[in-house]
Amino acid sequence: KTAKPKVIAIDGTFASGKGTLAKRLAAHYGLSYLDTGKLYRATAKLVIDAKGDPDSAVDAEKAARALNEMDIDSFLSDPTLKSGGIGAAASKVAVHPVVRQALFQLQRDFAKQGAVLDGRDIGTVICPDADVKLYVDAKAEIRAARRHAELVGYGEDISFKTVLAQLKERDSRDMGRKDAPLKPAEDAHFLDSSDLSVEDAFDRACQIIEAVIQRQ
Ligand code: DC
Repeated sequence: KTAKPKVIAIDGTFASGKGTLAKRLAAHYGLSYLDTGKLYRATAKLVIDAKGDPDSAVDAEKAARALNEMDIDSFLSDPTLKSGGIGAAASKVAVHPVVRQALFQLQRDFAKQGAVLDGRDIGTVICPDADVKLYVDAKAEIRAARRHAELVGYGEDISFKTVLAQLKERDSRDMGRKDAPLKPAEDAHFLDSSDLSVEDAFDRACQIIEAVIQRQ
């Protein structure tokens, strides 16, 4: 009988393909899935809807606390959370330690049932004891091309150059912040998705996961 992982932590850069991978792994291993970026996006949307400033710790904390009181499921399925503007604002609210604290327990509680979580600090802060940790990355130009196609698909009118510039800004804010910056956990396994199809990235991730589980 093959062993099954209980918690899989997936971190990585913006548009690295970690979300698609995480969803497929959750289905494959029969685990729940949480896209933790959506919590920061939902927080950012509450700030913006209230005419607040994502750079303000006070505004952002208020929103993160309000999110804890809401029906998370209905909120997380809001398609407007996917927009580029909300993503950039999410990266800003995510800088504030009070926001990260307010969203901490919710993520921890979700992981308890057995889950795949994807984000920026899952292997380092949220689930340091995860059975398997993956760190997904790809060349900036390739990620920007993927994201550009996605945004055009949503009907946004934006150039590749602008997407690339925004992506670099996002990477440096996520990696450069003081609290829980994006970085691979010491025991994370790297997955470079630059030259991999969705299918190949999934196969590679399964190989890594099975090798790790067998060693445990
Ligand atoms: O993965 P995403 O693009 O939906 O994430 C949006 C922003 O939220 C990201 O730029 C930084 C922040 N974030 C974070 O700080 N920690 C996480 N675990 C997930 C997202």
